[in-house]
Amino acid sequence: MVYDDKDVRSVLASDGRLVESWWPAGTAALVGPSSLNVLPQPRQAQVKAPFLRALGERAIAARARAVARAMDAVLAAWADAQAAAAPGAGGGGPGPAAAAVLGGVAASKQALPLCDLLASATFNAALFGAAASDDASEASAAAAPPSAAAAAAPQLPAPEAAAFLSECLERGRLAADLAGGFLPPMIDLPFTAYSRALRARRALLSKYASELAAARARRSGGGGGGGAGAGGAADALVRAAEGAGVSDGELLDGLVACLFGNVGAGPTFVKLFQHLEPTGSDGGGGGGGWWAALRDEQRRVVAARGAALGAAALEGMPVTEAVAREALRITPVVPAIFRLATQDFELRGRRIPKGWRVWCHTGSGVLKYNADEFDPSRWLRGDAAAADSPAPDGGGGGGGCPMAAAAAAAAGDEGAGSPFGQGARACVGRPLMLLQLKLLLALLARRYTWRFEGGSAGPAEPWVVVPAPRPEMGLAGFVLERAAEADAIPIDLSGGDEDVGL
Ligand code: HEM
Repeated sequence: MVYDDKDVRSVLASDGRLVESWWPAGTAALVGPSSLNVLPQPRQAQVKAPFLRALGERAIAARARAVARAMDAVLAAWADAQAAAAPGAGGGGPGPAAAAVLGGVAASKQALPLCDLLASATFNAALFGAAASDDASEASAAAAPPSAAAAAAPQLPAPEAAAFLSECLERGRLAADLAGGFLPPMIDLPFTAYSRALRARRALLSKYASELAAARARRSGGGGGGGAGAGGAADALVRAAEGAGVSDGELLDGLVACLFGNVGAGPTFVKLFQHLEPTGSDGGGGGGGWWAALRDEQRRVVAARGAALGAAALEGMPVTEAVAREALRITPVVPAIFRLATQDFELRGRRIPKGWRVWCHTGSGVLKYNADEFDPSRWLRGDAAAADSPAPDGGGGGGGCPMAAAAAAAAGDEGAGSPFGQGARACVGRPLMLLQLKLLLALLARRYTWRFEGGSAGPAEPWVVVPAPRPEMGLAGFVLERAAEADAIPIDLSGGDEDVGL
């Protein structure tokens, strides 16, 4: 086991020379023999190149509006479904068709299923587009210009939202089935989780093959596959793969690997609901004052740039960014990365013999599960931008001194570990994950609130690591609500992909 971050970095940097990726045959069969996770070097790097282009920071930023709309469709329908199920509810409300799709899951009053659905929706919106929704939402936005009042209305028309949510629910179930196959016994018999995972993989491959075919049809001007705004990163992937000698099998397994990576998004979102509860008992607006700080930041952003929530708006959100990074640091959802030593080598004077398995921990947070402090200010100390947005406890704000910034960055790095890995096999989903977290925080701060009821553990609920990192009871007692109109901060989610200088 390797704990120290510098050592972890040096082991991961030696991929293809001293170590290689290690996946038992059963799990490798689930992500696929040609998936990025299992391909050996140098082939892995060749196949990864188009994924890095299609999912890179700017390419993904261009999808911000589509991702935000998908998230909002989920949040609005979830809040409406819970409101409709509440004792004495009159029913109805905006988006009843979409809310009805989620009725069963929302009734569980756990944050985890909502977060898994958010992860599924954002993944599909970023990679494949939200079908006809991009066009439809532009039409609805034109009919009703954005305002605080309009913030209470769904920006996806109900039928499109319902169809989109239902497909995301199904794909979310397939993702869960796939992830559920990673535990022993890995025996392919009809009633085993492993067999269910293999079936899920086949179903996903078939969906992704259709998505790639639709992307190619759009590229050759033949239309196909879901209307304007459809496509997303898959279109860029098809473009980047052309002439790169990457087979369809490698693209499809790569997409399954991406979906598998995205399974970490749901539990990461859960941490936001757990650590930022708006109605917390601390009197500071919840979450140690961070909830209030997030809302203040959104008000500032709207005052400076208007209500549009897209790539440009996300640039000016240091507090939001700090909270997102802290959510990635604490209770890491990928606690360790596995490698196999392909030859003898030394690490800090200790010999690692060829054939040994090397476990690299992704950060110090791994050693502090359930005993760690959620403290986003570690990401603001020394940040010049933080001077405008002081940490709620009065800390932070190093006045922009370059020395303070450098020291803080070093300290931050150390605390952060490597949640997305390092080196040749580092996560291709990092930009998408950060985008998802920042958009979710902005959306929540502008137009939602939540509470925990029923005397369950709520925000104090402990996390388990096995079979996968998650709150023990799914973060129980969770109720999401639309913010009261007087509290809502204006938001505009209309528009297609943004030009971010690609
Ligand atoms: C909280 C969320 C996430 C965490 C903590 C995370 C973490 C990681 C880590 C640690 C690795 C390196 C594995 C290794 O070195 O063997 C990795 C690889 C990978 N991740 Fe993520 N990931 C997340 C989200 C995502 C998302 C959203 C995607 C979707 C695009 C994704 C796609 C991938 C892929 C395809 C790889 C394999 C890369 C390769 O082998 O070259 N991940 N991830």
